[in-house]
Amino acid sequence: MYYSEELVEEVRTRNDIVDVVGQYVRLTKRGSTYFGLCPFHNEKTPSFSVTPAKQMYYCFGCHAGGNVITFIMEYENYTFPEALKYLADRAGIALPQREATEEERREADLRSRLLAINKEAGRYFYYQMRQDREQKAYRYLTERGLSDDTIRRFGLGFSTPYENDLYLYLKKKGYGDSLLKETGLVKIGERGSYDKFWNRVMFPIMDVNSRIIGFGGRVMGEGEPKYLNSPETKVFDKGRNLYGLNIARTAKEPYILICEGYMDTISLHQAGFANAAACLGTAMTSGQANLLKRYTSEIILTYDSDGAGVKAALRAIPILKEVGMTVKVLNLKPYKDPDEFIKALGADAFRQRIAEAAGSFLFEIGQLYGQYDMKDPESKTKFHRAVAAKLCGFSSELERSNYLEAVCEAYRIPFASMRQLVGEEALRTGISAAQRPALRPAREKKREKEDGIHTSQKLLLTWLIEAPQLYPKIAGLLSPEDFTEELYRRVAKLVWEQLQNGLVNPAAIVNHFINDAEEYKEVASLFNTKLRGDMTKEEKEKAFSETVLRVKRYSLDAAGRQAADVAALQEILKQQAALKDLHISFN
Ligand code: UTP
Ligand code: MN
Repeated sequence: MYYSEELVEEVRTRNDIVDVVGQYVRLTKRGSTYFGLCPFHNEKTPSFSVTPAKQMYYCFGCHAGGNVITFIMEYENYTFPEALKYLADRAGIALPQREATEEERREADLRSRLLAINKEAGRYFYYQMRQDREQKAYRYLTERGLSDDTIRRFGLGFSTPYENDLYLYLKKKGYGDSLLKETGLVKIGERGSYDKFWNRVMFPIMDVNSRIIGFGGRVMGEGEPKYLNSPETKVFDKGRNLYGLNIARTAKEPYILICEGYMDTISLHQAGFANAAACLGTAMTSGQANLLKRYTSEIILTYDSDGAGVKAALRAIPILKEVGMTVKVLNLKPYKDPDEFIKALGADAFRQRIAEAAGSFLFEIGQLYGQYDMKDPESKTKFHRAVAAKLCGFSSELERSNYLEAVCEAYRIPFASMRQLVGEEALRTGISAAQRPALRPAREKKREKEDGIHTSQKLLLTWLIEAPQLYPKIAGLLSPEDFTEELYRRVAKLVWEQLQNGLVNPAAIVNHFINDAEEYKEVASLFNTKLRGDMTKEEKEKAFSETVLRVKRYSLDAAGRQAADVAALQEILKQQAALKDLHISFN
């Protein structure tokens, strides 16, 4: 898909960001900026900002950020062309027809047709459930305790016992075989066409925007397989969706409950836990973890209490922690899954278990504990060593000692012995631990220094777009080449171009990075560094001068390390010397 830069800019500028975001988020004006509750993660106090002057949004909590186009892409889960189309329509701009390549149009077309068919099928199943004289599916669901309201909210339905009922229905609607094949709802072979699902209770699976992307179907009673699921299709990616997340993402609680099944999710919602969602019958993937991260920073796992559930939890923990989330594990014993638990003990007891959920580390230790025989001194020692080894995994000293304390208390292990064991374990695992203490500080120091310089470079970019009148003061001193981080340098080049033309327009710069969500988010953060508002003019001058100096020095140091010859090095030294008494006055 190719749209000219000018056209994209026209669509963008004709859609004021405050108006557009205001359709979705209640915004309150504070100074020159609007604030509201972030639509991309759960929060109680507003950290989501919209700045009319920049025509950008940025969340200081979850770091979502960008311009009006990326907002629509993220909020509506649209692709770039879809978002552009939406905004063009909104502003009454006609997009040229010929811009999409044949293939891209076919692809987009196919996706939307598959979604339309799924919607049609969802309605059909829903209707069949009410239509069925025996009320098999309806009775099955109500006997399992679901209310009419719940059945409606989750759009549950019934696939009839006839072999190609749905197929014939969709054919009559005018859909052709090859398209129907791609939905995964029918199997078209030489000997005829068959529905994939028959005689099952149907669970439509929706994406975060409540579009039906696939189905799960359960046998009523015993039978194999218990659940049948749609295959992956152009619109159904099992590793990037969760069942129930379309509702859970808007729930009030700061955490999300993750369970194993359709019925667990539904039971939890019916019991008042609207923040529950389920992986789609597969192990947690990093795609799902990243999706969850958009809405919450804490996950409580409520997997089945059997061996498979524990194993699944142990595998999910590192995947969720990897994207920076806090993980807890809820104990359902003596019940098998949330559905059974709630039926037996009710919502209050479940809420109590949420309050008692163990942090993932202690959960992992608890599982380890079960593998050793504490009556056998040798086995017990092995357990202690295993605990020590796990404690060695913490990179922060403070964290390690906090967990050391917690573990010792929970398992009544003498603290001093365990601390010594951790030291021994560190040595025993040889290189890793013996070297780690020596290596890590150096690495950490380097990282800190890099973080520091990144902050200065960001600060400078934010400053320049908020106060472009400062540009002439630094123009002779700094250039985009002084930005050592590659992405920052690309952004700086564009900022410099704008400054030279006297037209600052950060939201237009975002357009250049629109194909990569990670990139445009980071670009948004470059223009939204928090500048302290309460500084005097002198303080500001000092802070600005220091920021400029830091960026220049760092860049000269880097250049010095790579200088090709003595002459080059001398030139760098000269420049470094000249920096000594730099002070930039705002006058
Ligand atoms: P469970 O076997 O734990 O089912 O599978 P459940 O949720 O307790 O189901 P009910 O209460 O007996 O109806 C958990 C999840 O694993 C997937 C489904 O997503 C299910 O919800 N699964 C299970 C399948 O995809 N196929 C199967 O045959 C079984
Ligand atoms: Mn169950």
